Formats: sequence, C-alpha cells, structure tokens
Amino acid sequence: MISMLKDISLFSGIDDESLKYLEEVAVKKSFSKNTILFSKGDETDSLYVIKSGMVKALIIDEDGKEMILSIHRPGEYFGEMSLIDKEPRSATIITKEPTQLLIIHRKDFLKVFDSNPDMVYDLFKVLLKRLRKATDKVENFAFKDVYGRIANLLNQLGKPVEDEWVVEDKLTHSEIANMVGSSREMVSKILKELTAGGYISTDKKQITIHKKLPSIF
Ligand code: CMP
Repeated sequence: MISMLKDISLFSGIDDESLKYLEEVAVKKSFSKNTILFSKGDETDSLYVIKSGMVKALIIDEDGKEMILSIHRPGEYFGEMSLIDKEPRSATIITKEPTQLLIIHRKDFLKVFDSNPDMVYDLFKVLLKRLRKATDKVENFAFKDVYGRIANLLNQLGKPVEDEWVVEDKLTHSEIANMVGSSREMVSKILKELTAGGYISTDKKQITIHKKLPSIF
C-alpha cells in the first residue's frame, strides 16, 4: 500500500513516518458498479483515494434528474471539501465501475497534515483545478448551446494519442447528457452527426476524436 500512497500526488512529498502511519490506518474497500458512496448533505468527513475504478460526483434534483459535476479516476481523491471545512458533503458520489478505495478518516489525515506542508500545496492545486473547471462549466452553460457544450466536454476529456485524441472514460450517452445538461436523444443525435462528418468514432470503450471539432455545427 505504501507505493500506492506514494503514487498519489497528495502523499508523494510526505515523510516516511507519516506515510507508514497512513498505510496502517487507511481502510481498503471494494465497491461494485453504481454504488452510492455517500450523498450530498451527508455529515461524514473521510477522504477517499481511488486505487482502481472510477467514480462520478453528481447532484440530483427532486425528480431524480442528475447533473454530473466531475469524474474521478485512479490516483485521484475526493471528499476533501468536507474533510477540510467540516460542512456536509457538497455532492453525491457513485461508482461508475467496480472501484477500490483507500479511506482515510479525518482525524488520521489531520495527524499527518500539520507536519507535512507539501500536502497543503497539493490540496490547493487540486481545489483550484476543480474551481477552474467549475468556472468553465458555468461559462459553457451561460454562453454555449448543447453542441458547443458537448464539443467542449470532448476536447476537455480527450487525451492525445498520436495525432488523435481519445476519451477513455466509457461515457454513455446518458452520462454525457448529464454532464452537459441535455437529453440522451440530443447527445445521440449530435454524436451521430459528428461521426457521419468523420470528426469522431465511438465504441463501447472510448470516443476517438479524429480532427478538430468545428466551433459550430
Ligand atoms: P465533499 O464535499 O467532501 O464530498 C463530495 C465531493 O465531490 C467533494 O468533496 C469533492 O471531492 C467532489 N466535488 C464536488 N464538487 C465538485 C466539482 N465541481 N468538481 C470536482 N469535484 C467535486
């Protein structure tokens, strides 16, 4: 488990004694796909580190309509907000596939936090990155139509592979709809048109972007 924690940016700079302590107290747990780990408003305060799998942070309205805020992958962590400010959870977290987590209780985290200033820097960086993404999202909702929001999402998630970009998050059309605030039908229609235009191709595992997506469609 030591090497796993060392691989997480939050813990990469901490002293050996703290690392050993966290290794002893962290609880390793496995969850199947579509498990709710906690819900928005819950009064819990552990930090969750993703060892394998994937989770989504989302908010749900009274009618069960979802809005996906973010997807978190192996090596990333979540739950840092309530851990730090002791407020209720800001979002619901659901596993997107079978997922292994390391769970670190707040009191154990704080024991090593005070003596490891690198952790403060990493947390700041992660929080600021999330804030920037949230600002982008607001901008997209305010100024872009559904196509623009989908194009922006694909550009944001796509990782360069040779001279193409690949989105590896195994996103369903419903999930994309829940990320851009649209319907599954609308997402399917737009992806179909992008495929017909030779811009993208899709399979169960990934979406490949072959050429720069047009700014309007
Ligand atoms: P916390 O509020 O403790 O529990 C929900 C978690 O979801 C939160 O901490 C973050 O880790 C994560 N989260 C909430 N909102 C966002 C967002 N906009 N972007 C990325 N992650 C988020």
